[in-house]
Amino acid sequence: MTKVEQRKSMLEEVLGGLNDPQKSLPSKYFYDERGSKLFDEITQLEEYYPTRTERKILKQNVESIGQYLGEKVVLIEPGSGSSDKTRILLENLSNVSAYVPIDISGEYLFNVANELQNEFPEIKIEPLQADYTRSFELLEVMPDGRRVVFFPGSTVGNFERDTVDRFLNVVADIASQTGAFLIGVDLKKDRQVLLDAYNDSKGITAAFNKNILRHINRILASDFSLSRFDHEAVWNEEEGRIEMYLICNEAHEVAINGTTIAFEEGERIHTENSHKYTLDEFSEIVSPWFEVKKVWTDENNWFSLQYLEPK
Ligand code: TRP
Repeated sequence: MTKVEQRKSMLEEVLGGLNDPQKSLPSKYFYDERGSKLFDEITQLEEYYPTRTERKILKQNVESIGQYLGEKVVLIEPGSGSSDKTRILLENLSNVSAYVPIDISGEYLFNVANELQNEFPEIKIEPLQADYTRSFELLEVMPDGRRVVFFPGSTVGNFERDTVDRFLNVVADIASQTGAFLIGVDLKKDRQVLLDAYNDSKGITAAFNKNILRHINRILASDFSLSRFDHEAVWNEEEGRIEMYLICNEAHEVAINGTTIAFEEGERIHTENSHKYTLDEFSEIVSPWFEVKKVWTDENNWFSLQYLEPK
């Protein structure tokens, strides 16, 4: 996509979301350069347990994970970003013969891939630029070996149910009958632990949530005033998810490319959901495609890493 096309599609999505009765914005717009830095800071916060817990699970069980993955593994990672967690696997496993990071941001992807190739000369690094949320073409020449799709970070929790199903379909396709799926899934837990993770005392989470407005202002030349919105994270028990909102603290209007959007005091813009699952709930969700063969977790049972095989 060219810059002009990117701007056009952002404008359509933003206006589409803000014209709905429950205003919303697409969460992918959190992540410009500043947003990615803020998220990185979130992952280092005391309150934000998911990243550190998943890393610990990976490190502590890497040998056992290696045994489940088998021999001559082709590790495929949709939305690989910095490939941070994957490094734990690549550093510790001798049975990974190839790594296929998939990301929408080409420049970043190819830089990371180059670094990895230097660090791990014996592993074939084959980056693939694609939007994994749509279906994508696999590499024409996929390295051969056992295809294992790696999807850490509990990103699956950010998907709505219909998206989860579509994603599982794609993953089952990629893994094929002989492959596997290694996925990080955040678990249900004490409500206050969850609320604290999405509402830290330093206000980094709030800055991250509001950055979506700053990003939109920068690209669309809109005039969102960040001080007129506050960060809010609520636990929806019924849906089993943390819901993120920006709540308007003073009635006002925002101009976006010639369109005016009115906000009432107390009105909320929905920005993201983060579903939490029990082990049983998750196994039920994947059951049309996969069987859960192994679950690794931490001492609090807060986060899980799960090894699945196609049915
Ligand atoms: N994908 C992250 C998660 O669900 C995103 C996230 C963390 C987030 N903190 C947030 C999104 C605060 C909005 C507001 O854990």
